[in-house]
Amino acid sequence: MLVELIPFDADDAFEFVDLGCGTAEPSKRVLEHFRRATGTCIDSEPAMLALARRKLTPYSDRIEVREADLTHCDIQPCDLVFSAKTMHHVPPAGLPELFARVAGALRPSGCFVLYDAMSVGPCWGARVRQQAAHFRQRHRQDAVASGVATQQEIDARVEYKRAMKAAGQDVEYEHSAEAMSDAMSEAGFAEVAVVWRMFADAILLAFTPNKDA
Ligand SMILES: C[S@@+](CC[C@H](N)C(=O)[O-])C[C@H]1O[C@@H](n2cnc3c(N)ncnc32)[C@H](O)[C@@H]1O
Repeated sequence: MLVELIPFDADDAFEFVDLGCGTAEPSKRVLEHFRRATGTCIDSEPAMLALARRKLTPYSDRIEVREADLTHCDIQPCDLVFSAKTMHHVPPAGLPELFARVAGALRPSGCFVLYDAMSVGPCWGARVRQQAAHFRQRHRQDAVASGVATQQEIDARVEYKRAMKAAGQDVEYEHSAEAMSDAMSEAGFAEVAVVWRMFADAILLAFTPNKDA
């Protein structure tokens, strides 16, 4: 879905940055689909980056894998920034500055695609989170059944997260889609929208103003 939302044609040459790339599954899909795209994967976790480098070996002439902390690293000029399942690691106070850096890095009519779990109000929050967890579980089962991921990969990821949490290294914050969207508008994005939502999980798209604006 993330690939389908990227506003470029399959033959377009463009530069992207993946913030919080993890094992780089989203970047791999982008490189597969857009054969002239080049990009940079950023993550602060060496173990994730090692897996990302291995996975991206076939695309090594088009991708740079960089160890950096997205809460303060430089983001090079580019046409597209995407971030999947990572923003919940950024404290709320850090979002305005991060989004301003993303907006500043994007060229005119550049696009920011953000996918993550979002918080929901207190009345229905617990129920919506429960439904989101069921949805993710079904999604993982479908991924295994269709050969997109193996059960071992999924188990390894769950175990990695469990160990990080136990070590106090995996702090999660709750951002609402509305707060994210407001912070993006304030950061200078011209068009911001929640384009997909399934229970707590949402995808936001934001564009930088075009050259004539
Ligand atoms: C749940 S994983 C998502 C990975 C990938 N985007 C995906 O969708 O498969 C979150 C990633 O964010 C990275 N991360 C968390 N905080 C970070 C930070 N401050 N700077 C860079 N990476 C960070 C973690 O190391 C982890 O690889």
